[in-house]
Amino acid sequence: MRSRRSVLAVPGSNPRFLEKAQTLPVDEVFLDLEDSVAPSAKQEARANVVAALREGDWTGKTRVVRVNDLTTQWTYRDVIEVVEQAGDRLDCVMLPKVQDSTEVVWLDTLLTQIEKTMGFEVGRIGIEAQIENARGLVNVDTIAGSSRRLETLVFGPADFMASINMRTMVVGEQPSGYTEGDAYHYVLMRLLMAARMHDLQVIDGPYLQIRDVEGFTRVARRAAALGFDGKWVLHPAQVDAANEVFSPSQEDYDHAELVLDAYEYATTVRRRGAVMLGDEMIDEASRKMALVVAAKGRAAGL
Ligand code: GLV
Ligand code: MG
Repeated sequence: MRSRRSVLAVPGSNPRFLEKAQTLPVDEVFLDLEDSVAPSAKQEARANVVAALREGDWTGKTRVVRVNDLTTQWTYRDVIEVVEQAGDRLDCVMLPKVQDSTEVVWLDTLLTQIEKTMGFEVGRIGIEAQIENARGLVNVDTIAGSSRRLETLVFGPADFMASINMRTMVVGEQPSGYTEGDAYHYVLMRLLMAARMHDLQVIDGPYLQIRDVEGFTRVARRAAALGFDGKWVLHPAQVDAANEVFSPSQEDYDHAELVLDAYEYATTVRRRGAVMLGDEMIDEASRKMALVVAAKGRAAGL
């Protein structure tokens, strides 16, 4: 599985940002053709994105293009132009505002046709599905199981809050007047369950107050604590925070490796399924928890 702790959004209409993005230490970069691009700049943005994929140096980053959603007239040309011209330099296509599984199936089919036409390996390009309205959330279980190309679900909090009329203008923060806990808990858990049911990753969306790194970090920690794999970043100031929040701490990583070693010894040498490690009893479930932390820690280079 690819690491997606930090997912950088880059407007496809801005050549300077497309250049700068290559220098930032993010796990994934997505070149946007959707909401950060004005309608009059859509066509030009496609050409910029193709050029950036073909000529840029994206070493070490997962390369993704976000196309326009299927209620617009742009989606099919976005996919055809970008994938025909730069599909060999692209890892995933992100589909926004997914409302039901047929939309993902449509993209899967179109990708297969382009791959066959161009002589690309069929099935290599993955799909990221953004869930950002009520219909998408209600249908999220079938969306998550709709294609073998799906790699991750992505929460789109800005569109989502608009879709349900949530009473706040600050994306990711609690609506004023809500005192019952975390207003995002249900939607985050709903996405997480659907994603894990189908062994997908799950990514939190943007935090728009880009100068408030403390706010970003707080909101990122909420998603990370539940089990999310990463979060969008909109500005270089958010990158280090995302990479840190979505990596295990050194202490947790070291402990996970210790659990794996101790459990291996217990089951093979001592032939026991549950043993003490210091004050902690560990068994097969402990091994599974440790594997998750160890895998993330190794991916983060700990
Ligand atoms: C992202 O696309 C969002 O709507 O939050
Ligand atoms: Mg959106």
